[in-house]
Parts: sequence; structure tokens; C-alpha cells
Amino acid sequence: MAQIKGVDVSVGYEKRIVADNINFEINEGDYLYIVGENGSGKSTLMKCILGLEKVMGGSIVYGDNLKQKEIGYLPQQTFIQRDFPATVYEIVLSGCLNGLGWRPFFGKKEKNMAMEAMRKLEITDLAKRSYPELSGGQQQRVLLARALCATGKALLLDEPVAGLDPYAQEQLYALIYKINKEEKITIIMVSHDLEAAKKYATHILHIGKEKCVFCTKHEFIKENGGCLF
Ligand SMILES: Nc1ncnc2c1ncn2[C@@H]1O[C@H](COP(=O)(O)OP(=O)(O)OP(=O)(O)O)[C@@H](O)[C@H]1O
Ligand SMILES: [Mg+2]
Repeated sequence: MAQIKGVDVSVGYEKRIVADNINFEINEGDYLYIVGENGSGKSTLMKCILGLEKVMGGSIVYGDNLKQKEIGYLPQQTFIQRDFPATVYEIVLSGCLNGLGWRPFFGKKEKNMAMEAMRKLEITDLAKRSYPELSGGQQQRVLLARALCATGKALLLDEPVAGLDPYAQEQLYALIYKINKEEKITIIMVSHDLEAAKKYATHILHIGKEKCVFCTKHEFIKENGGCLF
């Protein structure tokens, strides 16, 4: 059974369908790129996978022992989030909130998880720094460490490299790829960067106006020369 499977999914708001006929299948350790024009419904589909929005049709099924609340999420950035007044460590640790259950305080387990996530994202030396003072690239690594605290299985990343310089982009891609390869954490990433998709993805999902296409990266390159459908 796939980790996450979408069958004839349609997404939208109130009575307006934004995208439909979306089919995909994600297995443990896959790296899926979701591509498509602005406003095509990529972020909305992410929210449906997370259960923050409801699908308007079809279904999203979870298998392979994955529960919806075990999915880590890095939302598309807004300016407000960039000013969040907390230290790096506090923000990363807040990613463990879901695992607390009825306990009111973070324990040793959560603190170790936060330290481990900061190590993986190479931000240990920033632990005590105030989040708003960091560069965009550093902030994204902090949010990624936070998302990592929420999961050992799957990460949903909505345009994680947007606004970063090419060097910071490459650095973040490399860290995400390492997490994917070394820990077998499934990655679902929304991106406009087709070159990176060709380099890192195992699968591509194109949310198009006319149709939505899901295929392996090799099919994408072989049948379409790596261009959008
Ligand atoms: N909360 C909402 N209520 C109503 N409509 C919404 C809401 N959020 C998004 N939309 C609309 O749904 C459509 C899809 O939005 P979505 O954010 O999913 O697009 P996207 O593919 O992520 O775009 P981008 O590449 O710009 O991030 C857009 O027309 C948008 O205006
Ligand atoms: Mg979006």
C-alpha cells in the first residue's frame, strides 16, 4: 500500500473547483515535485494532503503506517512569519508539539529531537539567535528543522527555496536531498524549479489547467524532454 495515494482528487474553495482529476501515488522514500502555474492549486492540494482543507471530490488515502498528523509541513512563506519573535531553538522545538499528547511541557525526548534536527540542518550554532535577525536562507533551514521534528516519515515543503539566492537554494536542496536519501523520509515539494526537479525528483506531478499529469522523472524527461505538459 502506498504511503499517500490520490484518486481523482479535485480541490477548490466553496463551490469553485481549482484543479481536478489529480491522481498520484507516493511511496516511502519518494521525492515528488509538484509543479504548475501560479494559482493552479498546488498549495491547496498540499493543504488537502495535510487535512487543513477538504477535497471537493475523489479521495486521498494514507497507508504504510503513515498517519496524516505525522506529516511535517513547511508552508509557503509570508512576510509576517519572517518577524516571528522567538529564538531558533524555540521555533524548532515547537515542531514537537504534536508529539506531546496530554503532557504540558517539552521533555528530554523533544529537546533531543530539536537538537538533532538543528544538527541535520546545520544550524546548531544559531540556536540562541533571534529568528527575525536571520537571513532568508537561515530562516528556511530553521523552519525545515521544525518540520522535521514533526515527522520521521514525510515532509511537505511548499516552495522552500523561493526568494533565496542560488547558493542558498543549492545548499537547501542538498540538505533536503540528504534527509530524503539517508533517512528515507518522503519529500513532497512544490516548486517552479524544473532543473532541480530533474536533478532530485523521483516523480513529478504537474497541476495543469487542461489536465494533471503524474509520472516518474524518467518518463518526464524521456517523453516530454523535461518540459511541462
Ligand atoms: N482560502 C482561500 N479561499 C478561497 N480561495 C482561495 C483560498 N486560497 C487560495 N485560493 C484560490 O485558489 C486558487 C489556487 O490557490 P493556490 O494557493 O493553491 O495556488 P498555487 O498553485 O499554490 O499558486 P502559487 O504558485 O502562486 O503559490 C487561487 O485562485 C487562489 O486565489
Ligand atoms: Mg502556492
